[in-house]
Amino acid sequence: MRESGWKGSCRKFAMPNVIWRKTLWAGCAAVMMCGMTDANAFQPANRPAEEWIPRLERSERVQRIKVDEVVARLDLKPGDVAADIGAGAGVFSLPLARAVAPGGKLLAVELQQGFLDHIELRAKEEKVGNVQPVLGEFDDPKLPSRIDVAFFHDVLHHIENRKTYLKNLASYLKPAGRIVMLELHNPHADVPEMHILRDQVEGWLAAAGLHPVKEFDLFEDKYFVVFAKNVFAKK
Ligand SMILES: C[S@@+](CC[C@H](N)C(=O)[O-])C[C@H]1O[C@@H](n2cnc3c(N)ncnc32)[C@H](O)[C@@H]1O
Repeated sequence: MRESGWKGSCRKFAMPNVIWRKTLWAGCAAVMMCGMTDANAFQPANRPAEEWIPRLERSERVQRIKVDEVVARLDLKPGDVAADIGAGAGVFSLPLARAVAPGGKLLAVELQQGFLDHIELRAKEEKVGNVQPVLGEFDDPKLPSRIDVAFFHDVLHHIENRKTYLKNLASYLKPAGRIVMLELHNPHADVPEMHILRDQVEGWLAAAGLHPVKEFDLFEDKYFVVFAKNVFAKK
């Protein structure tokens, strides 16, 4: 059974994770844990939003992950409803929102309100009016409507119950809906809980009724694959 609150948080952070050891345990663990919510308690290596946002928005990272080139390959069109699952600081959310405007909507899904507040602020600053923040749950994105596309970048290995999550997510897809998966070939190889392989991901998606329909060769360190229920779907 899951534990909630402070005790649950302590147990989770005690897991072997070199990243956490370097950043969290080195000096401020106690202070940070006092402020943790359940959103941090059960997922591998989740961090508080205010700590994670500057890392996710580093200009070196934003260049490396080729945001515009990725979004250009998604065949999004005005009127589509897309979901940025594990949107983080929203590095992809705003370009995705622009790609489905006018008439479309981008659902930015996160576990922590801090990320969603940040994304809303950025959307306001950049005058992007079609971003809807969605506070998801560990195993269910809790989307408010059916979607054309669900987008994952650097997220699935952070989700604890991947098979369940993908099955739940698939239930929100429109019949020709797609799941776009950008995931590291070798995520956190030193942290067993986060080390997932492409074959496993394809297996979980197949169990949810989705199969690969397109693949892009844009990165060396990660795969970029589009999955769909209907393998004859044009997009
Ligand atoms: C490495 S960050 C990537 C953020 C963003 N996709 C990007 O590439 O800039 C992983 C994100 O996944 C989020 N996350 C982890 N588990 C999640 C879940 N079950 N539902 C929604 N978001 C989740 C974390 O909060 C974190 O913001």
